[in-house]
Amino acid sequence: MGKKVLGIDIGGTGIKGAIVDTKTGEMITDKIKYKTPKPSTPDAVMGVVKQLIQDLGAEDLAMGIGFPAIIKKGVSHSAANIDSSWKGFNIKKFFKSQFDVKVKVVNDADAAGIAEVRHGAAKGVDGAIILLTLGTGIGSAYLLNQVLVPNTEFGHLKWKDSITEDYASNRAKKTKDLDWPAFGQELSEVLNHLDLIFSPDLFILGGGISKHFQTYAEYLTIKPKIIPASLQNNAGLIGAAINVTL
Ligand code: BGC
Repeated sequence: MGKKVLGIDIGGTGIKGAIVDTKTGEMITDKIKYKTPKPSTPDAVMGVVKQLIQDLGAEDLAMGIGFPAIIKKGVSHSAANIDSSWKGFNIKKFFKSQFDVKVKVVNDADAAGIAEVRHGAAKGVDGAIILLTLGTGIGSAYLLNQVLVPNTEFGHLKWKDSITEDYASNRAKKTKDLDWPAFGQELSEVLNHLDLIFSPDLFILGGGISKHFQTYAEYLTIKPKIIPASLQNNAGLIGAAINVTL
């Protein structure tokens, strides 16, 4: 067994956590999920994380956090689907001040990329891979020959009169009340645009909607190969935990 690390995935809608064996990439406890508090301020989110730690008995474990923003050296440089007070906020320092353990923070979609490249759909696949997590927003991880290029933010590409995550995320599907064929078509438009610019060898779709991949895959009209994230919506918390050991 490898090092045991607490993986936490903070999202716009939910906060998930589990203890992960960082060698095998397996969750060795149940996954615990709470709703993201509203407003999702640092103090409110900290309250939920403390509850998660107590539920999992993870008080002494190193902690890997996946966070839905641009992350550099533990600091958040954006705040699209989370309270604006996180922008410019030192997340790592904040968590370290509460828990006397090792803490590492990474963008949530990059965390999913880290997990998929080690234990999932991107394992052993060379070339350029674009992984998109479709949830409240669209997160992205760009992997080139198994190496992550962090903070790509393809969900914030300008698209029509807004940005891609307002057009083809899971939230957009619900807000616009799209059925699967319509959603597949709108997502295809975004994927074709990414293909035009980056020519990836493979697309991987993750996030909450990845479990429905077989339902809408037939409506995707794109050239590159496309597959669902094999760790599905757990990839973020698993990758956040693995990141602590990198
Ligand atoms: C954020 C990204 C994040 C994505 C998915 C976007 O709004 O800007 O950093 O990865 O949502 O949570």
